[in-house]
Amino acid sequence: MTILVTGGAGYIGTHTLVELMQAGHQVVVFDNFCNSTPAAVLRVEQICARKVKIIQGDICDRQALTQVFTSHQIDAVIHFAGLKAVGESVAKPLLYYRNNVSGTATLCEVMAEAGVTRLVFSSSATVYGDPQHLPIVEDFATCATNPYGRTKLFIEEMLRDLQRSDTSWRIALLRYFNPIGAHPSGLIGENPAGIPNNLFPFITQVAIGKRESLSVFGGDYQTPDGTGVRDYIHVVDLALGHLCALERIMDKEGVLTVNLGTGQGYSVLEMINTFEQVSGRTIPYQIVDRRPGDIASCYADPSLARHELGWVAECGLKEMCRDGWNWQQQNPTGY
Ligand code: NAD
Ligand code: UD1
Repeated sequence: MTILVTGGAGYIGTHTLVELMQAGHQVVVFDNFCNSTPAAVLRVEQICARKVKIIQGDICDRQALTQVFTSHQIDAVIHFAGLKAVGESVAKPLLYYRNNVSGTATLCEVMAEAGVTRLVFSSSATVYGDPQHLPIVEDFATCATNPYGRTKLFIEEMLRDLQRSDTSWRIALLRYFNPIGAHPSGLIGENPAGIPNNLFPFITQVAIGKRESLSVFGGDYQTPDGTGVRDYIHVVDLALGHLCALERIMDKEGVLTVNLGTGQGYSVLEMINTFEQVSGRTIPYQIVDRRPGDIASCYADPSLARHELGWVAECGLKEMCRDGWNWQQQNPTGY
């Protein structure tokens, strides 16, 4: 198949390109590089020893998108393009609604015109808000605590409405838990601009000497050691989940909403300990106040992904730390 990958130059996009190409698919990348670089796609070409078609463009630009569909025979779309910084979304909500929500509406309109109705969408565990119970099952109530999360919720609802209006649409809404790590080659990985918002890239930057120490946000949560618990998932496992979802929607009608997580939660201190063991580096840290908007614990019940997609996350925390550290060491200043 030929798959259009919006946001394909980004962290999860590049890892998914590798798995798509290794499974024999053709890919077309559409990205405006607002949070990435074409160099990342060149690394994908290096891993796969194949050229990738890259188109620089914005998902809000209807004409540019239409051009993609008229000049390529696209079978399905994996839609990663979006802004994802929670703090920025609070400061600039309209930017997030325009880019993420409007951009997705434009993409779907152009897809419909082109007769392409197979779509895999990057949603997030953030749509569960602060869950009442754990592990998190897909039919739990959803709620968002910030504009970024609301864009994911609104897009999910918009895509469900779209499918109700035209049942030829087949859509997978993939709710990612916390992707970390990197491709084992060390050629692609997470490349945050500026100070990392997320735990894992902050740890690797402390380990490489780019930052002095880690602030652990809160030591008084209702968790075994008081620090926040999350379901970290190896980005290659996550990428493979997209392949399974793609195959599934080719022969299943409707909208499939599914968690992609391991089912296992780890605390911040457990993450630090495992990273120290794997890397042989010490991570200096201090416990500080909670980060506003954070929750105590979040981890998936991944059974539906196993039943519906035949997908299970294979990698453990050590492999995630090993591969993420390998990427950071090989690329101390990113791409
Ligand atoms: P990323 O920023 O690395 O990748 C997103 C890509 O989309 C970037 O290459 C960026 O340049 C591109 N992009 C953004 N707006 C665009 C636009 N208007 N037109 C064209 N390209 C545009 O982020 P990622 O971590 O790879 O995340 C991919 C998707 O998964 C996002 O939608 C994100 O919200 C979602 N997600 C990520 C996580 C995570 O922890 N990384 C968790 C849950 C969901
Ligand atoms: C964050 C986002 C969430 C997004 C998810 C995956 C916020 C409030 N939430 O969630 O919307 O879906 O990333 O991209 O930004 N931590 C530290 N020190 C740090 C960084 C994080 O102690 O410097 C802690 C956090 O308090 C949390 C854990 O590490 O307990 C994981 O944090 P992070 O990687 O930011 O992910 P989430 O909080 O799950």
